[in-house]
Amino acid sequence: MGRSGALLAILALAALARCFVPAEMARAPRDRVARSAGGLINKLRAKSGRAKPELQQAEAALSSALPPGSTAPALRARCHELLKSNPEMLKAVSSASDFRISVMTEEDAQDLADLQEEWFPKESCRGGAPWCKELLAHEGVLAFKATLPQDETSAPVGALVALASRAAIEEFGGEATVDNLRKELTIPKFIPWDSPDRRSLGYVLSLGSVGEVRRRGLGGALLRRALAELKQSAGPAPLNLLGKGPKDTALHVVALHLADYNRVARACYEGLGFEMIKEEPESYAGVGRRTHSSLLYALFIE
Ligand SMILES: CC(C)(COP(=O)(O)OP(=O)(O)OC[C@H]1O[C@@H](n2cnc3c(N)ncnc32)[C@H](O)[C@@H]1OP(=O)(O)O)[C@@H](O)C(=O)NCCC(=O)NCCS
Repeated sequence: MGRSGALLAILALAALARCFVPAEMARAPRDRVARSAGGLINKLRAKSGRAKPELQQAEAALSSALPPGSTAPALRARCHELLKSNPEMLKAVSSASDFRISVMTEEDAQDLADLQEEWFPKESCRGGAPWCKELLAHEGVLAFKATLPQDETSAPVGALVALASRAAIEEFGGEATVDNLRKELTIPKFIPWDSPDRRSLGYVLSLGSVGEVRRRGLGGALLRRALAELKQSAGPAPLNLLGKGPKDTALHVVALHLADYNRVARACYEGLGFEMIKEEPESYAGVGRRTHSSLLYALFIE
């Protein structure tokens, strides 16, 4: 084969190799790509016999809530060091029921602030630990953390914050959120929400699990726990003329906002029955001059 023949053969092989990338990998979301990058890094380390510090950041996956093109934030949460020195702890959590889920208190404020800074854009992490402390102390806030069964230090690997009352949504979601929920949800769907403490609407403020434990059912488990507690906190539905309530809770709807690019979280919420209600273009700042839509999602309680 002449030189041009050899070149053609190499190009054909390269094209073929691209075709054989499994479809799943070709469409892989960012955290799966980062996990497979972590595997490659470990192989490279094993081969060269030394650590490559500049590659360490890739081991914990980038959050799907960060705009496309974001650089990885520093990983401050306690659980990363813990999992690095005790990788066997991960083997004990292969499914949702393996995690310990418990209520978060003011004592967890620093942990919550550290996790939020890893998961969400800087501008949405207002106030750090002092803000989280106020949030966790509010009577209208329901917050849960997930920890590993063998971890005596109880370092959270996942967390969810839900706002159970209108007063809490006003205080921590902001008045614009309340206006948006009234305009798009409570008024058009005739959901009673007149007094500040009416608990017919719950709101998920934030949800996350750390890269090391993703895709083991934790996000779904935290959401199911929050839904159960929101129903409980709303109280029983008013009785009808026959003396029976139409359902066992006064909760009508659970809502949340997320960015359009966060398709992992969208799949997570849709899997639990949430549906998209409204897209608001240019609501979130992206990298550079890019902007992204905000999506209002809701789950109607039957
Ligand atoms: C969204 C997030 C909380 C999901 O956590 P998780 O622990 O991986 O969730 P689960 O394992 O319970 O997965 C629940 C569903 O989410 C979807 N999902 C999760 N990871 C996914 C991925 N990598 N690709 C596609 N869908 C995915 C799937 O529908 C999955 O259900 P399935 O496993 O039955 O297919 C997590 O990816 C995360 O922390 N992201 C960063 C923060 C964020 O985006 N928060 C939400 C906005 S408030």
